[in-house]
Amino acid sequence: MDRKENIFKRIKNSVSDGSINPSSDRDRILLVLKSLILHLHPPMVNEKTIKFNHTFGLGGMAVVLICLQFITGLLLRFTYAPFPGSAYDSILHLQSTVLFGQLIRNIHHWSGLLLVIITSLHLLRVFFTSGFHGKRQFNWVIGVCLLLLVVFSNFTGYLLPWDQLAYWAVTVATGMLEYIPIIGTGLMEILLGGKQVGSSTLLIFYNLHTGIFPILIILIMAFHFWRVRKAGGVVVPADKSENKMVPAVPNLVAKEFVVMLVLLAFVFLLALIFDAPLLEKANPAFSPNPAKAPWYFLGIQELMLHFHPLFSAIIIPITSLIFLLLIPYFLYETEDNGVWFYSGKGKQLAIRSAVISGAASLAFILINEFLFKSGKLLGFLPDEISNGLIPFIIFMSGFYGFYKFLINKKGANKNEAIQTLVVSILTVFIVLTIVGIFFRGKGMALTF
Ligand code: HEM
Ligand code: HEM
Repeated sequence: MDRKENIFKRIKNSVSDGSINPSSDRDRILLVLKSLILHLHPPMVNEKTIKFNHTFGLGGMAVVLICLQFITGLLLRFTYAPFPGSAYDSILHLQSTVLFGQLIRNIHHWSGLLLVIITSLHLLRVFFTSGFHGKRQFNWVIGVCLLLLVVFSNFTGYLLPWDQLAYWAVTVATGMLEYIPIIGTGLMEILLGGKQVGSSTLLIFYNLHTGIFPILIILIMAFHFWRVRKAGGVVVPADKSENKMVPAVPNLVAKEFVVMLVLLAFVFLLALIFDAPLLEKANPAFSPNPAKAPWYFLGIQELMLHFHPLFSAIIIPITSLIFLLLIPYFLYETEDNGVWFYSGKGKQLAIRSAVISGAASLAFILINEFLFKSGKLLGFLPDEISNGLIPFIIFMSGFYGFYKFLINKKGANKNEAIQTLVVSILTVFIVLTIVGIFFRGKGMALTF
């Protein structure tokens, strides 16, 4: 009640002291805008939290891109036809005859791709500035749900152009589900609406993409913002400098506005220069070589070349997701410190572990490709064991040993050790994804 009264008082005061005189139309609009903004931001914010290099505006950028996806997506719906006989032709029609059709498709394509990158960077920003403790713990979990929704929105959109790229990428990616024991085939058939990608799949993906996922994104995003407000805004750096509160309008809002304009200019420029790809119409009888999943699943596809699919496509991704969800709930030594990389030592350990894990995963890929397959050493055992369970146990023990080493030998505290561990897992994932995107050619052989 007190805070509400405060807001009303501030608005009333600014009217009575003449700083806003709503007798003119301009000021009346400003007053309404200001009140509207106060639904999203608190009236006063800590000066340290609005420095650009504290958040890089990444959460705000994700909001802008989602709005862009909604606007362009709704426009695309006017001409798109979700049936195998007409989907591809509707895209050709959109590109060649509809006014600004190609541009709108390009914006939707590039902004969708950027959204995955920006949301992942926002996750990293929150992680590396310790913005996930205490009151913010559950908001991390909500954030992970948003990330999954963004990735699956992208994935369902991927099929819609119904060209060779779309058809085979979705066939490869959904094929991974088959490796889930017992329920895998059933699950895949439910998602595809049949035994293979076809007309039911296109309709299911279209409805998920333009109906169910957008509704979920709006609801969960509103919840996410509400939790940021409930936590009193973004995490405040616990450094020695003085804490000074400044009004959110214009200090924060002006910065957000600039970030939005620069981002929009960048997306429009991309869309003007590069057209969204469109290959020939989908042909279920002819598979391209190599057939690759969408780029954000290529880390998993790369892993499948090294380990048994039960582990590479199912157990390792699920274990990683559970680990990601649990990150805020490990017992840390200090919370809410809001400083990048936690400490100087944290930063140093993170950089070293990124270099070492990057080099080790590259070496592993090369050795496994050219010298011997990891499972061959124990070839007398079933493949699930020799090429799945045993390497999995070795890697898990390796990560645990690394964690203990950081605590006992490097004198890291729990925050620094967990941060270093996450950096090394992340680096492995990034290396796998880069190799999958750029260095796999015909028959998925390594090409340089
Ligand atoms: C997080 C939100 C969204 C993401 C990440 C996303 C992503 C994508 C992607 C990657 C494509 C394939 C684009 C291409 O290369 O051609 C696509 C297509 C499409 N999307 Fe979305 N989208 C989102 C939201 C929406 C919404 C809200 C709608 C409509 C209500 C929509 C409607 C469409 C339509 C009709 C297509 C087919 C046209 C085409 O492929 O150019 N999208 N989307
Ligand atoms: C569609 C995706 C997302 C949107 C639109 C979004 C939006 C935002 C915004 C606007 C903020 C406040 C300002 C800022 O930090 O830049 C924020 C904070 C936060 N976000 Fe997200 N977010 C998304 C995804 C995620 C993900 C993937 C995570 C982590 C898994 C996450 C976790 C958090 C947390 C914990 C905070 C509070 C951080 C702090 O207090 O410093 N969000 N988000």
